[in-house]
Amino acid sequence: MNQQDNMQTKDYWRGRLSGKMPENVLNFISSLNEDARLVEIDIDVVQAHNLMLYRQNIISKEDAAKIMDGLEKARSAWQSGQLKLANYIDIHPLVESYLMDSYGVEIGGKSHLGKSRNDQVMADVRIYLRNATLETSELLADFCDILLNLAQAHTQTLMPGYTHTQQAQVITLAHYLLSYSGAFQRDMERLEQCYSRINLNPLGACALAGTSLPLDRNYTSELLGFDDVLENSIDAISNRDFAVELAGHLANLMATLSRMANDLILWSSYEFAMVELADELTDISSAMPQKKNPCPLEMLRGKTGTVYGNLMQLLTMLHATPTGYNKDLQETKPPLWQALDTVQASLRVLCQVWNNITIKKERMYQLVCENQITALDLAELLVRSGLAFRQAHFLVGQLVRECSRQGKAAWQNLNVKQVNDTAQTVAGKTLELNQEELSAAINPAQSVASRSVIGGPAEIQTKAALIKQRQKLSEQRQKAEDKRAKLKSTHENLKMSVRDLQINPA
Ligand code: ARG
Repeated sequence: MNQQDNMQTKDYWRGRLSGKMPENVLNFISSLNEDARLVEIDIDVVQAHNLMLYRQNIISKEDAAKIMDGLEKARSAWQSGQLKLANYIDIHPLVESYLMDSYGVEIGGKSHLGKSRNDQVMADVRIYLRNATLETSELLADFCDILLNLAQAHTQTLMPGYTHTQQAQVITLAHYLLSYSGAFQRDMERLEQCYSRINLNPLGACALAGTSLPLDRNYTSELLGFDDVLENSIDAISNRDFAVELAGHLANLMATLSRMANDLILWSSYEFAMVELADELTDISSAMPQKKNPCPLEMLRGKTGTVYGNLMQLLTMLHATPTGYNKDLQETKPPLWQALDTVQASLRVLCQVWNNITIKKERMYQLVCENQITALDLAELLVRSGLAFRQAHFLVGQLVRECSRQGKAAWQNLNVKQVNDTAQTVAGKTLELNQEELSAAINPAQSVASRSVIGGPAEIQTKAALIKQRQKLSEQRQKAEDKRAKLKSTHENLKMSVRDLQINPA
């Protein structure tokens, strides 16, 4: 009887070490919790690696077939809840030991040849992230669709545009919405570029500096749908720049989402009253019976801190870790998962909010009529009548001051005589403005119509922007769909190769 006869599969990893790790330490260093979402990906990765070992004549067909079979059994055990995430440091030895339990160490013990958990976990994470990145892009595309459809319906819905949270210029709701759908399309672009840096194959890098075995890194890339090999073996297992990049994009996106959420929180207040949120998407106060609180939007705003924190967590954890794999790097996963979950949940909530919102057009219109929001339009009219802009600015400032004193309706009732007289007093200029020109300049609808500069709120520009954005969005959607289709067919091919070996083991 030799030493191995008494060993459990679990003991094989600790040949170098005596004694058993205390449970609290095991739990402290384990990544099993965050590995839960990687189980099936890990199985795919081990299968692809072993298909390659077989093709390279490094393991026999028979062994490869058993390895495929054992791994499929592990998959079924996971799917049916029999494979429990416990007692192991991470998912990789857990899957390997399942294989060894099925086919013994003679077979199962071959599956880790030519790889390390260092390149393996990177392959798993990259596969997980490419899917999650695509999912986030698809959610963004759905959200953009909602915004663009609403924009289409509101090209003439006038509302105040703000700077410093003070009325600035008249805009339309469409113009506002297009400003966000444009930003979200840039987020999609960023995610797409980031995808190309995520979807690279680290397998073959092994623990740090490759292996003497004749591995075919291109073949595992092909089997797993990686766009290319991540060549330098140290780089492949050491670096987490792709994770920081993704978290950075997610934090950036969250900033935009939270700004929009904050607008809606303000706009749904009694004071603004420009929109009303659906009852189902608001919450009550336990004390004040009148309350209708925009809690989902506030949570989104609050969770922005979570995502920023995730980015900081990653950067801080990575800071000055020595080159090569260090266990610290295991801490890449939780903040990434949390950032992705938070952003995706936020996107879903905002889609629901906009899908169920009531736009209070009359109130928006009232707000653009009560104040002097068209002051710049009047100043520009005065410039066309011969004043220097600074003179016009000063003159209109005086008129605004006067109208503010007179009350809400004063600006819209501004009289041409008053304007001409002020020009005479303030600038010593005789203007020959007529009432019609003046009324047009200060009219909110005409103000919007006059701003037909590229990207302005005039309907003609809004319609052009809608066409452009829809076109761009459909291109972006197409790119995401192509990637999805490629990943799907690659995965089907992998399954087929696995099945082929299972069916023809010899
Ligand atoms: N659970 C580890 C992680 O997530 C896998 C790699 C472990 N490698 C090692 N040399 N300890 O990073």
